[in-house]
Amino acid sequence: MKRKVINLNSKIRWIDGKSLPSEELKKIAQIDNNIPKEFDPHWKPNKDKNDRRIKYYKKLTDKDFFQVLYCESEICGFHIIRDTGNSIAYISTLWVDPRFRNLGLGKKLKEKGLNWAKDSGFKFLHTSVQSKNVRMNEINQKNGFEIFSSTYRLTL
Ligand SMILES: CC(C)(COP(=O)(O)OP(=O)(O)OC[C@H]1O[C@@H](n2cnc3c(N)ncnc32)[C@H](O)[C@@H]1OP(=O)(O)O)[C@@H](O)C(=O)NCCC(=O)NCCS
Repeated sequence: MKRKVINLNSKIRWIDGKSLPSEELKKIAQIDNNIPKEFDPHWKPNKDKNDRRIKYYKKLTDKDFFQVLYCESEICGFHIIRDTGNSIAYISTLWVDPRFRNLGLGKKLKEKGLNWAKDSGFKFLHTSVQSKNVRMNEINQKNGFEIFSSTYRLTL
C-alpha cells in the first residue's frame, strides 16, 4: 500500500473530543461504527447506530478520556475510554486512519490512554477485541493486558 508521507511533529494536533462540534462527532461516529466491519463481514452499520453513538460521545464527561488526533485538517485517529464505576475503565474505541498506520500513532494514542487511566486512579482497564484483529491483540499483549473473559460465537 502506498503511504502518505507526513512530518508527524509539525502536522498532527491532539484535541479533546469533548470540545468538538457535532459535525466532527458525526464523522467519528461513522468511522467508529464501521470498525468491526474490518474484522466481521456480518457487521451492519445503520444510521440509528450513528445517532446513538453521537449521543454517547456527548454524554462523556471529565471522568472519561476522549482523545482525537488530526493530521493536518483531517481526523486521523481517536481513542475513547470511559469510567464504568467500580474503579474500572473501559476502552470503547481506538482507531487510526489506514493511510497513517504503522507510523506509531496507534501506540501514542494507546500510551496517552494508559497514562490517563493510571493517573485517574482506576484499578483496571478493560477492552474487547475481535480475535481476527491480530494487530490490536498484539498491541494489548505488548502493553501487559491479559485475557480476562472470552466471547464465543456459534455460526448457525
Ligand atoms: C490498531 C491500530 C489503532 C494501530 O494503529 P497504528 O498507528 O498502525 O499502530 P502503530 O504504528 O503505533 O503500531 C503499534 C503496534 O502495532 C503492531 N503492528 C504494527 N504493524 C503491524 C502489522 N503489520 N501486523 C501486526 N502488528 C503490527 C506492533 O505491535 C506495533 O508495535 P511496535 O511498534 O512495538 O512493533 C490500527 O491498526 C487501527 O486503527 N486498526 C483498526 C481499528 C481497530 O482495530 N481498533 C481496535 C478495535 S478493538
